[in-house]
Formats: sequence, C-alpha cells, structure tokens
Amino acid sequence: MSVRVVNSLKVPDLTLQPLSILVLHGPNLNLLGQREPGIYGSLTLAEINHLLVAEGKKLQVEVSPMQSNHEGVLVDTIHQALGKHQGILINAGAYTHTSVALRDALAGVNLPTVEVHLSNIYRREEFRHHSYIAPIAIGQISGFGVQSYLLGLQALVHHLRKDKG
Ligand code: DQA
Repeated sequence: MSVRVVNSLKVPDLTLQPLSILVLHGPNLNLLGQREPGIYGSLTLAEINHLLVAEGKKLQVEVSPMQSNHEGVLVDTIHQALGKHQGILINAGAYTHTSVALRDALAGVNLPTVEVHLSNIYRREEFRHHSYIAPIAIGQISGFGVQSYLLGLQALVHHLRKDKG
C-alpha cells in the first residue's frame, strides 16, 4: 500500500483506494434511444452505461450500473449497496417526483448520493420541479444529457476522495 507523510507520520494513502459506485437508473430509462429523443437524446441506456464505465476507468473507480422499472427492486438494490459500494449515482426517473420510499432507502443506507437527470427538470412541467431525493443528495445535475451522468460521477468521486484525504 502506498503511504503519504502527514505531520512527519507515514499514513496509508487512501486517496486512490479502489472505489465502487452504484449507478441506478429508474423507470422507463431502459427505453432510452427510442423514448422522446428530443428530450432525452438518442443514446441508449447501454451506450450511457458504456460511457460511465469508461469514465470510471479514467477515474480509477468501479462503476456498477443497474436499471429497474420497479420501486421495490430499486429499494432492495439500495439496501444491498451497503458494504459493496461507497457511493450512489441515481437517475430515479419519475420516482424522483413521487417516491418517499426511494428517498428513505437512500437516507437509510447513508451512502453519498448524487442525483442526475438528462433533461432540465426545472424547465419542464411543474410536477417535475420537486425532487424527493434532492434534500438527501450531496447535489443534483440536471439538463446536460449524458454529460449529467458523467459530471455526476466525477463530482461523486471527487467528494469521496476528498472525504478520505
Ligand atoms: C428524468 C426526468 C424525469 O422527470 C422523468 O420522469 C424521467 C427522466 C431525466 O433524466 O431527465 O424519466 O429523470
């Protein structure tokens, strides 16, 4: 293990410790590519996941993507993240605006979470302006298409490394 010197003491350098990030995609995001491309772009979910894994390699983190249309499956996956992953990047889709259960699961495991959206939810219908997740997330990135995910991943990794540094 590499070490670094702090106040003349040699301490293990945790800043580059392998991190694992759970990427959660909520309902209907499996349809990306064909779903309202004017709003969500033309990339498929597989292509977005590919870009996230590649970005993870650059950042030296493992990226584990998962998508479900079912609220309970997403809740279970969040619970199972404990001990496996150090942070969560989530696009909860429509559950962003409706799900107290997802918010409580994220608060319950207390893993640093970044919320992302392809579209700018604040430029759209009023019912999309409220997020149940935002108050328990480190931050939210909305409106940059696939870049929202990539920027969100960078921000999450930066946050995790800073906490440990
Ligand atoms: C979305 C925005 C949500 O309002 C919507 O229900 C989605 C996708 C986005 O990525 O822009 O399914 O989360």
